[in-house]
Parts: sequence; structure tokens; C-alpha cells
Amino acid sequence: MESIKNKACVKVPKPRPEIEMMTPYSAPLEGRRNLLRLDFNENTIGPSPKVMAALKTIVAEHISIYPEYNGLQKAVAANINSSTIINPLEINQIGLFNGVDAAIHSICHSFGDRGDQLLTTVPTFGYYKPCAKMQGMEVLEIPYETTTFEFPFNTIKKLLIKNKPKILIICNPNNPTGTNLKANKILELATTSPETLVVIDELYEAFLGDSILPIVNFSRMPNLIVLRSLSKTSGLAGLRIGFAIGHKDVINLIKRVSGPYDINSFAVTAAFAALEDQKYIDNYVQKVLQARNWIQKKLLDNNIKHHMNSGNYFLLWPKRKASEVESSLRKEGILIRNMQDKPLIEGSLRVSIGTTKQMQIFWEGLKTTKSI
Ligand SMILES: Cc1ncc(COP(=O)(O)O)c(C=O)c1O
Repeated sequence: MESIKNKACVKVPKPRPEIEMMTPYSAPLEGRRNLLRLDFNENTIGPSPKVMAALKTIVAEHISIYPEYNGLQKAVAANINSSTIINPLEINQIGLFNGVDAAIHSICHSFGDRGDQLLTTVPTFGYYKPCAKMQGMEVLEIPYETTTFEFPFNTIKKLLIKNKPKILIICNPNNPTGTNLKANKILELATTSPETLVVIDELYEAFLGDSILPIVNFSRMPNLIVLRSLSKTSGLAGLRIGFAIGHKDVINLIKRVSGPYDINSFAVTAAFAALEDQKYIDNYVQKVLQARNWIQKKLLDNNIKHHMNSGNYFLLWPKRKASEVESSLRKEGILIRNMQDKPLIEGSLRVSIGTTKQMQIFWEGLKTTKSI
């Protein structure tokens, strides 16, 4: 009795007010092994065999010593510069992060002050808002427009002129609507408000092939940052490695708030191997695009409400409640993501696209569970 009473009186030290107000970011991350994972837009077949081979060469010393990053920025630059690019990247234009999540966090940490504004869209990737909120930033979310979720270009442009927000984040293509904003339009926004840091999250760019990197000149546009990751197409989500690419001085600023060894040695080894095997990634993207055609035809032929645009995912409105479909499919060994509480797309499911075989299993699962 005494100990219960004592427990009730325990008071933890007070954190910053912003942290006290926050609800922890939560995603259904547990219990996903050995299931068909169409819930996090990950690579559904695993990384390149060359990545696995490289990881197997790791010896004890490699684990006992702190990680070394020499040459990794060069490898990232070489990988990106190997595609058509007007202004080839230099190594000091590339910041290495423990996943793009950590890059987003560092950007908000280094640029966002209490009361500053983060301008973004809605619905979009869920980690921008908490990163801004923990800085005490005000978050202004502009909804996608019409039933096809068009980018709210005019509204965003007006707000850039009127508010001059500290940061604008655009997920391009957007997760989960697949909305795509053309490179010249992004440049127009970045020019509209040079004091706003314009962050383009290109996590799913590989499925679209319409990156801004081939045309951007960061020395003329220092307020633009592009985010890329090895989590999705390269299949390294579990190792955590992502990149922020931009003007060297901006990269230098956002790196100041991350720790010296935030990326672990396994991620570094895997990243070198993945970046060298672009062919594997291109093949995987092709497989996903074929699977997308397959599932899209099924949805169209059967008159099922869905929204499919860029990215390795689409939205589906089942005829039963989304939460029920989610749990019925889980019993069939299939994971998808319920978009509950997401403005504009409430009632839908987000389905990641894997291989054609995997989409066939998903399709059968929808029929077995009487979800469509
Ligand atoms: C749009 C977007 N940005 C960033 C991330 C996080 O990427 P990373 O795994 O590199 O931290 C995700 C993950 O789902 C995402 O969908």
C-alpha cells in the first residue's frame, strides 16, 4: 500500500513545454515479420544480393570501432551524377543521416525556432509535423485539391509571399496521394520566397523518374534541399540511411545538430554496396511498375474505387469499414495501412505495390475477406 502511494507521488522533471504537449509518433511497426508487408511502402523482396554479401564480410573489428564514413558521400554523388544532371553534385553538398527521418528532424532543429512557420500539405507523410512541433513551430497544412488530390500550388505560392514561412516541405511524389509537382513548379516556389527553406522529400522519386536534381543549381538556389533514402527501393529500411542534398553551407548547418556517429557501420557497408548496384534497383522499380499495371487493371475492370498516381502505393476504398478490412487481411497474412484520421482520405487503405505475384495474393485476399 505504502509503495503504491509513493508511486502516485512520483514527479518526473519537467521537459520543454513543446515536448509535454506532444503525443509520441506512433506507427504499427511490430509483429510484421513473415507477413506480406504492403503497409510501409518498403522494398518487398529485400536488398541486392551484393548488399547481403558485403554485410557478411563484416568482421569483429568493424563492429568494435566507431563507424568510418570516408568515401560514402563520393559514392552517393557518383550514383546521382551517373544519371543526366546539369550541375554534378560535389561531396560537400551531401549530408548523411540516420534515415531521412533524422534529416527532417535536423532540418527542423537547425532552422525552426519557436513561433516560426512550417508550411506543408495534407494528407502527407506523418513525421514532418512532430519534428516542427518539437521546435515549437506553427504548422500550416494545405489540403490537396479536388477528388484527384492536385497540388495546391496557388495557395502555397500566395502563402510563401504573404507569410514567408521558415520551412516549406513538399513530399514529391506525395505519400499517400502520389501527387507529383513538376520540377519547374518547385523552382518557381523556391524563387518566390528565397528566405524559406524549401525541402523536397523525394523518397519515392525512383518510381516516377521526375527528380528535381537533374536541373537544380544549388549555388543559385541555396534555399532548396532534396531528401533521398536507401530505405525504399534499395531495401535498407532496417539499417537506416538517408541523404540531404543541397547547398554546401546549408548541409553544413543541418549537420551541426546531428551526432558524430549517428549512422552505424552496417548501414555504411550496405550503402556502398547498394549504391554500386543501381541495376538491381532499376530492375526492382520495373517489377513494381509492372505489378502496378496488373493491379490497376483489376481495380478498373471491377469498378473499385481507388486512387493511383506516382509512387509504389495506392489508395483503395473498400466496401467494408477500413479497420475491419485491415484486421481481416492481417488474418490472411497481408498487411496494409488504414488511413484513419487522415483528412480527405478517411475510410481508405494505403496499399504498397510489390511484385505482380504479391499483388495477386493481395487481390485474392481482398476477395476472400469480401472487402471489395
Ligand atoms: C515520404 C517519406 N519520407 C521519409 C520517410 C522516412 O524515410 P527513412 O526510412 O529514410 O527515414 C518515409 C518513410 O515511410 C516517407 O514515406
